Amino acid sequence: MKTIHIVLFGIGNVGSTLIQQIETAQQHLERNHLKIKIPVIANSRLAFFKEEGIANSWQTDFEAFSVPYKISDIIRFVKEKGFNNLIAIDATASSSLVKNYIQLIENGFHIISANKIANSLHAEFYNHLRLVLKKHNKQFLYETNVGAALPIIETIKSLHNSGDQIQTIKGVFSGSLSYVFNTFSDADIPFSKVLNQATELGLTEPDAREDLSGKDVARKLLILARELDLNLELQDVSIKSLVPKQLNGKTTLSQFKKRIKELDKPFNEIKDVQSKNNVLRYVGSLDVSNKKLEVKLEHVKRASTLGQLKGTDNVFEIFTETYNKQPLVIKGSGAGKEVTARGLFSEIIKISTQLS
Ligand SMILES: NC(=O)c1ccc[n+]([C@@H]2O[C@H](COP(=O)([O-])OP(=O)(O)OC[C@H]3O[C@@H](n4cnc5c(N)ncnc54)[C@H](OP(=O)(O)O)[C@@H]3O)[C@@H](O)[C@H]2O)c1
Repeated sequence: MKTIHIVLFGIGNVGSTLIQQIETAQQHLERNHLKIKIPVIANSRLAFFKEEGIANSWQTDFEAFSVPYKISDIIRFVKEKGFNNLIAIDATASSSLVKNYIQLIENGFHIISANKIANSLHAEFYNHLRLVLKKHNKQFLYETNVGAALPIIETIKSLHNSGDQIQTIKGVFSGSLSYVFNTFSDADIPFSKVLNQATELGLTEPDAREDLSGKDVARKLLILARELDLNLELQDVSIKSLVPKQLNGKTTLSQFKKRIKELDKPFNEIKDVQSKNNVLRYVGSLDVSNKKLEVKLEHVKRASTLGQLKGTDNVFEIFTETYNKQPLVIKGSGAGKEVTARGLFSEIIKISTQLS
């Protein structure tokens, strides 16, 4: 039996769903001679250590027995216990945790991350991380950074590595904004109401302006661009934010919520000038030869691939030297704790198959 030891950072939506998925799959894994143990789980302040791996009662155990920790405590624990086949999972959105990746890799961990920060920080960190991984022969997998579990990063990497020149990638990269514009374009309801619905459904960040600012989509575009060896930074992405100036960062979240109806007039005006055959989509595009990365609201044909999106779906249209008349299209659920956790789980299995 091969045993994998997981240290899980982040036990929120995605992290706790991953624990549940691993627990449910244990028998199936054991039939394939694989045991996945999670001896450490942590949030931003506390960690729970259990040599045999956490059990079904992990939530109550965490409440009762978790302790404040430093990253060095976790490293010491796995060393003292002699654990091998170590994988650290980042199911947080933390920039401070990312700073610990190097130390984790130097101490024997592979890294799997749903957190976009490491891949969208400045190029110096991005390149250094890859040098450290190479030196220590460790893997860093992050398919869930873009499109949740959709195989977008793997696909463009394979095309690029096989010499097929990628020309453009265009799509809807945000599940929350996909929902907002798929709904707003078709229904006769105020924009603020759709946005509130999306927040109530847990699709947006608690402060929906984080989605509307376009920064999350910009990070995803940058991550894809870097996979194609484009040496770019986040500030190279041209972003058309959807947050009106009077409701920007200087306004508190509660003020924004009170004044949310101020969004209705400008968005209605945009919708009013639109022809019946068009719909609104918040689109990310990457033009590889011109190194141009753009995030903006567009009127697209209702009958087009982008125009036909439903619910929280993401879509990516990839034009390459080979796929030059019809794009390669990857489409499907691009957000949600279940698909994202499943994406992390697949990457655990991927690394496990290569470990002894
Ligand atoms: N949810 C989705 O649909 C989805 C889809 C694709 C990608 N993602 C990505 O997945 C990640 C997690 O999302 P989520 O929805 O699960 O978030 P969440 O519910 O807010 O959970 C975040 C977890 O991370 C913990 N955390 C924060 N800083 C930490 C640190 N420095 N060290 C250890 N733990 C820390 C938090 O602990 P505290 O409670 O102590 O703060 C919490 O347990 C994010 O990067 C997100 O962008 C999510």
